[in-house]
Amino acid sequence: MLLRNSLHISHELVSKAVCQGDIVVDATMGNGNDTLFLSKLVGEKGRVYAFDIQQLALEATEKKLIEANLRKNVSLILDGHQNIDKYVTEKIKAVMFNLGYLPKGDHNIGTKAETTIAAINKCLELLQTGGIIMIVVYYGGDSGFLEKDAVMEYVETIDWRCYSVLVHEFVNQVNCPPIAICIEKLPYK
Ligand SMILES: C[S@@+](CC[C@H](N)C(=O)[O-])C[C@H]1O[C@@H](n2cnc3c(N)ncnc32)[C@H](O)[C@@H]1O
Repeated sequence: MLLRNSLHISHELVSKAVCQGDIVVDATMGNGNDTLFLSKLVGEKGRVYAFDIQQLALEATEKKLIEANLRKNVSLILDGHQNIDKYVTEKIKAVMFNLGYLPKGDHNIGTKAETTIAAINKCLELLQTGGIIMIVVYYGGDSGFLEKDAVMEYVETIDWRCYSVLVHEFVNQVNCPPIAICIEKLPYK
């Protein structure tokens, strides 16, 4: 199958953008799947900053990293991604957002439009040229539509002279399949 789901597309694009030794961010750690993926991609010389507001997420992620022997190059941060500038000062190559709530967790503790947009805005500043922000937007069901609508509206306003924004969306599927948004920082003209 050539047209794969948004999660697959997000991993494919991040794999293409990121090299060993890069500094990257997992903005929504959750159960740590993306943190693990990023840790492997950047290798021992790189660094992953991973954020979540739930202690549960940090514990699940730490366990996963230790089991895979990938703990050393990861900073696990118990704070909202909207505060990223308190922890990350270096230029970053990629950021991954998985919006929504922790699978099998509390559906009330999901990402929110205001903090998500604040974080994306700060990440735009931190991004290296050629770096990407990858956002997988889960919506519908318990997540509702507010965050998805606000994020879609916001990314359309990003300056086209500095960033390209691509939206990957299946328009003929049922049950609100996740949308993948990729923002790439362009070289200065
Ligand atoms: C869909 S889950 C992430 C799934 C994760 N990528 C994985 O591989 O399991 C979304 C996560 O975002 C977290 N979250 C919600 N608001 C946040 C915020 N302001 N900053 C950081 N994480 C947040 C939730 O606690 C939840 O764990």
